[in-house]
Amino acid sequence: MGMMSERVAERVRQMKGSGIREFFDIAQQMEGAISLGVGEPDFVTPWRIREACIFSLEKGYTSYTSNWGLLELREALSDSIYKETGVYYEPEGELLITTGVSEAADLALRALINPGDEVILHEPSYVSYKPCAAFAGGTTVCVPTSVEDEFKVRAEQIEENITDRTKAIILSYPNNPTGATLSRKELEEIADVVTEHDLLVISDEVYDKLTYDGTHTCFAALNGMKERTILLNGFSKAYAMTGWRLGYAAGNKEIIEAMMKIHQYVMMCAPITAQMAAIEALRCEDEVEQMVSEYNRRRRVMVDGLNTLGLSCFEPKGAFYTFPSIESTGLTSEEFAKRLLFEEKVVVIPGSVFGACGEGFVRCAYAVSQYELKEALERIESFVDGIR
Ligand SMILES: Cc1ncc(COP(=O)(O)O)c(C=O)c1O
Repeated sequence: MGMMSERVAERVRQMKGSGIREFFDIAQQMEGAISLGVGEPDFVTPWRIREACIFSLEKGYTSYTSNWGLLELREALSDSIYKETGVYYEPEGELLITTGVSEAADLALRALINPGDEVILHEPSYVSYKPCAAFAGGTTVCVPTSVEDEFKVRAEQIEENITDRTKAIILSYPNNPTGATLSRKELEEIADVVTEHDLLVISDEVYDKLTYDGTHTCFAALNGMKERTILLNGFSKAYAMTGWRLGYAAGNKEIIEAMMKIHQYVMMCAPITAQMAAIEALRCEDEVEQMVSEYNRRRRVMVDGLNTLGLSCFEPKGAFYTFPSIESTGLTSEEFAKRLLFEEKVVVIPGSVFGACGEGFVRCAYAVSQYELKEALERIESFVDGIR
């Protein structure tokens, strides 16, 4: 028998593994490492949510649910989205519960893309969109954003990249890895381009509640955008529920139905236990607010700390990441991250994994305790001092 790897499908063989996981796995084995690597809250899921899950198990809720997700959850979600954004989604038909935003993003891309279709993506951005678009047979057209422009994607940049193969635009703000946000006005300019060119938008708003400066505007809330937007969101970040694997997609009935068709065959439904917990999560505004205030305090510590070390740091307005420039060290972002890990046991992620224009930066998550943050900053200082 020949090499098994040769039997693996070509498009899978060619795909590189996630640059984030690589660092995560090394750090997990390393004693005393501080991880600013993975984008995951250090908080445990609030007790009320865990308790609701335990009660649901005691009551024997252990079955499949509707493919769409529990109606009670979809109703609660519909209320909550309406309250926060003013956009009303019908619980039956316009909302699909998924196993995380990860699944929702994959479903959205697979539901839309025909072979050869193009999807416009601003970079640096979250790592899963490009591979999922490729698995679906599409091509990603990358639009670089820059620190000089606060990592905002501009309507003109999107417009310049539209071709007759463009199917959709991915918007991902507040942004992972930069922490950038877009104002209502900037989003409206993009909405005008979307209308003019008759496009669809996949808007990943998983960090909507983690906005520290101004308020978040939901893209679907803009004039005419509800019908053109597949809104993706979930419970991982704001409710500290990464391990529960719960998210959702909201949008036009025909598109959500198409996504459900894929979901019913590959996933069947999201886990009932997580769905029961999520109903309680939607009542936890105070708990979310407390976590957000703590992230905001850490954000200050991190941004000030990095700037003091001469790693000039754009002020993030959302999510829980800083994206300092490491140019002053003369290292590539990969060298910086590898050496920092092996010499000082601090995990950061090379900016280049989020797109070529992320080179020269590293992503540092501040979803760790202030004590660990300070310790990490001291270690980064000693590393940088040793280089310069
Ligand atoms: C922008 C963005 N979208 C989606 C995800 C994945 O979220 P989930 O845990 O809901 O699958 C992440 C996780 O880091 C993210 O940063």
